[in-house]
Amino acid sequence: MAGSDELHYPERMITFLEGLWGDGFLSPGGADEVMRVIAGVDLTGLTVLDIGCGIGGATGVLVGAGHAGKVIGIDVEAPVCEIASSRLDAQGLGDRVEIRRVEPGPLPFDDASFNVVFSKDSIVHIADKESLAIDVFRVLRPGGWFLASDWLTSHDGEMSAEMQAYVAAEDLDFGMASPARYRRALRAAGFVDIELVDRNPWYRVVAREELERLTGSERATFEAAIGADELALQIRTWEAMIPVLESGEHCPHHLRARRPRA
Ligand SMILES: C[S@@+](CC[C@H](N)C(=O)[O-])C[C@H]1O[C@@H](n2cnc3c(N)ncnc32)[C@H](O)[C@@H]1O
Repeated sequence: MAGSDELHYPERMITFLEGLWGDGFLSPGGADEVMRVIAGVDLTGLTVLDIGCGIGGATGVLVGAGHAGKVIGIDVEAPVCEIASSRLDAQGLGDRVEIRRVEPGPLPFDDASFNVVFSKDSIVHIADKESLAIDVFRVLRPGGWFLASDWLTSHDGEMSAEMQAYVAAEDLDFGMASPARYRRALRAAGFVDIELVDRNPWYRVVAREELERLTGSERATFEAAIGADELALQIRTWEAMIPVLESGEHCPHHLRARRPRA
């Protein structure tokens, strides 16, 4: 766990990302995108693990519109966990949600604890995709689903200069991998029914609109919220991200895979 001065999601970052992506969210797409990730899997009454729950927006959707019975949200940073707990309590969802701060590393749960493991744009922070896949498989009950959205890169070779500039601008401890590496890791862990859906065609359009908001229509609002220097930094990050979305090297994906029944 990073010390409080090493947080990747300090208060100003949370303010910025919620302003851009909506209340409770540190990732794009809001409730609609969460519902797309879980589409076709009925969560009613099920026990769900949310890896990297952030400030709890997606967690709330899983128990609200998603009708999950119980969600345990885990995250490595204390401030986001505190915000998530307060938010979900205030929404009256506290009895169906538990937020826990955890150390990075193996999932601190017994084998076969969950019907579904969910994650929204958080496992980009976990570089060892192979160990993660084995651990997710372990905590899932037989027949359970891993349903996730994440930020991927199109290949595992040397990043282009543009991609290196973008990852450096994010400064978020990213450990990105390709769809091929995710697929291999999931298959090696024992998963079946593996599906990956490229969300680059959606996010490359949305990201341009976001840059327009930051530089034009909502510039004054963001400047008042986070200050001119921080806003300039974020605009530079978006300016670095758009070329690698256009080239396809940065390719957010939805991932799903099932632990076989026996
Ligand atoms: C981009 S945010 C997404 C948060 C939330 N899922 C959402 O969609 O709003 C990524 C989150 O992953 C968390 N994180 C980073 N490394 C982690 C790890 N090893 N285990 C669990 N969470 C982690 C970060 O602290 C952060 O809250």
